[in-house]
Amino acid sequence: MSIEIKEIKNLNPLQLSQCIEISNRLFGKGYHSKKYFLKKDIVKIVALNKNNIIGFFIGKKEIKNVVIDCIAIKRRWQRKSIGTKLMTFYFQKFLSSKDKVVAYAWKIKNKMPAGKINYKFGLKPVKNMGKIWKNKCNISFKCSSYNKTCICECVKFSN
Ligand SMILES: CC(C)(COP(=O)(O)OP(=O)(O)OC[C@H]1O[C@@H](n2cnc3c(N)ncnc32)[C@H](O)[C@@H]1OP(=O)(O)O)[C@@H](O)C(=O)NCCC(=O)NCCS
Repeated sequence: MSIEIKEIKNLNPLQLSQCIEISNRLFGKGYHSKKYFLKKDIVKIVALNKNNIIGFFIGKKEIKNVVIDCIAIKRRWQRKSIGTKLMTFYFQKFLSSKDKVVAYAWKIKNKMPAGKINYKFGLKPVKNMGKIWKNKCNISFKCSSYNKTCICECVKFSN
């Protein structure tokens, strides 16, 4: 498999729809808007296979922190180190050892898909934020995990 990792400042319409599709499938339809991916103050790093986006990483610099806003790998490409490659690219090209990094992991039924990858990059759980999506879940986006109520929690990680 030959995977290319690169930063894309302006996603073209096809790349934009590929990111939206990945997000819709993983987080629920409507979770990320097109506007989200077109924002100028975010860093967008993508993983490409044969020129198609199979994963994306969104990071942003805030006043005090660097925030890993989202990392998502198409289901059939997960657990093949692509998430690790996206994180490595960001940490090497955009961060210094002094940066305070914050990431938010989604926890469902006591499992945290992003827990291990966060640990790998020196981030540890610092706070359980609770059900931060409750007011939006199944309203502004359709989460596939929704089960009569929102069942996902958010855990804040930091270095
Ligand atoms: C979490 C995610 C980004 C990891 O990307 P990936 O390409 O599958 O990760 P990697 O193959 O680089 O694996 C990194 C580590 O995480 C572990 N891991 C990957 N997916 C996992 C999962 N679903 N549950 C538990 N651990 C997982 C791997 O075993 C690996 O550990 P190792 O290096 O000790 O073997 C990806 O699974 C994903 O998109 N998940 C759904 C969306 C999500 O939860 N995003 C994070 C919140 S925004």
